[in-house]
Amino acid sequence: MAYSPYNKAASVPSEGHDTPCRQIRAQTGAEPPHSSRVGDVIRVADPQLGRAERAAVDDVLVSGDLADGEEVRAFEDAFGSFVDAEHAVATANGTAALHATFEALDLPAGATVVTTPFTFVASANAPRFAGLAPRFADVDPETYALDPDAVERVLERDDDVAAILVVHLYGLPADVRRFAELAEAYDVALVEDAAQAHGATVDGRPLGTWSDAVCYSFYPTKNMTTGEGGMVTTDDPALAERLRAFVDHGRAEASYDHATVGHNFRMTNLAAAIGTAQLARLPAYTVARRENAAYLTEALSDAPVETPTEPVGRRHVYHQYTVRSPERDALREHLAARGVEAAVYYPRCVHEQPPYRDARADAPVAERLADEVLSLPVHPQVTEADRETVADAVRSFRGGA
Ligand SMILES: Cc1ncc(COP(=O)(O)O)c(C=O)c1O
Repeated sequence: MAYSPYNKAASVPSEGHDTPCRQIRAQTGAEPPHSSRVGDVIRVADPQLGRAERAAVDDVLVSGDLADGEEVRAFEDAFGSFVDAEHAVATANGTAALHATFEALDLPAGATVVTTPFTFVASANAPRFAGLAPRFADVDPETYALDPDAVERVLERDDDVAAILVVHLYGLPADVRRFAELAEAYDVALVEDAAQAHGATVDGRPLGTWSDAVCYSFYPTKNMTTGEGGMVTTDDPALAERLRAFVDHGRAEASYDHATVGHNFRMTNLAAAIGTAQLARLPAYTVARRENAAYLTEALSDAPVETPTEPVGRRHVYHQYTVRSPERDALREHLAARGVEAAVYYPRCVHEQPPYRDARADAPVAERLADEVLSLPVHPQVTEADRETVADAVRSFRGGA
């Protein structure tokens, strides 16, 4: 079966006024009912694993072929065709996907990688593992994604930049078309961290259309999971070959020929089996996330928070639904008292973390966001009643008033 976000009409349930969750269960055979509530709390993340995942894992257990093998190849093929990429290389996790990509790009030792400081720390750790130097440019105050103008200012001034690393934060694609123009003009590589953006598109086209490589994570809270896992997709055959070697001890064709130094960053068949089952659910999950997000944006239009934006042509997959409030911590407590879990991604910019205090950074917008953002439950298990509870709780916040 070809899973594609570009012919979604075929895969999106159309009948009636079912909740997204009911639609997903009907489509995938997932067991009912698994509410997003634990006790009286609506959780901010709730990975769903069902019969399909259990059966797939059981098949692998019965086969006894637990490590890298046929299941991993099948998952790579399915995920590669889902994002319309020529090559897909599975990894042990998303950090390994990023690390392997920066190794495989073969950039000059010590060169600069311009990226966002408003991300999970792994985005910066990966180029550093590969002997490169992350440098942090500011983010756009509307989308919270890396600001192309800020990156351009860095590129104009510094000639030691070898790559731009964009992060599709919360599931909203960064302005990849503009970054691709910059990458071409300044002859630098362009890598996408799509750990939070499975199935996101730009102008109807998949991530990866305008970059060298896209890196995904399948950590349990992501839009789809393999337990731990990651994937790199690329249309560049030489890059894919170097990636395959790096994630498997620098192995050449023969088992004990090692042409280069590599890691063991391989995915297991167990993880891949879960991934293939989850991938079948992803289109419906994305519909559910987007429906929940649309409801919240409408319901919060008069609330004392700033709601997320979705620039024209950039399809948000709402890994997180993140609002902004100058009284973020009080709002979070207010929600907790009403049974709504909310989370802060991220309370501190990467350049404010001890390992990066010496890195070059100019990011006042990102620093302010770290004090003001709050993510609300938006995942596919959030029911219509849950999302009403979430919206009512936010609307009833009066802050310091
Ligand atoms: C933006 C971003 N980049 C990288 C990663 C690293 O992925 P993983 O946890 O699978 O190593 C994550 C997830 O945790 C992430 O959110």
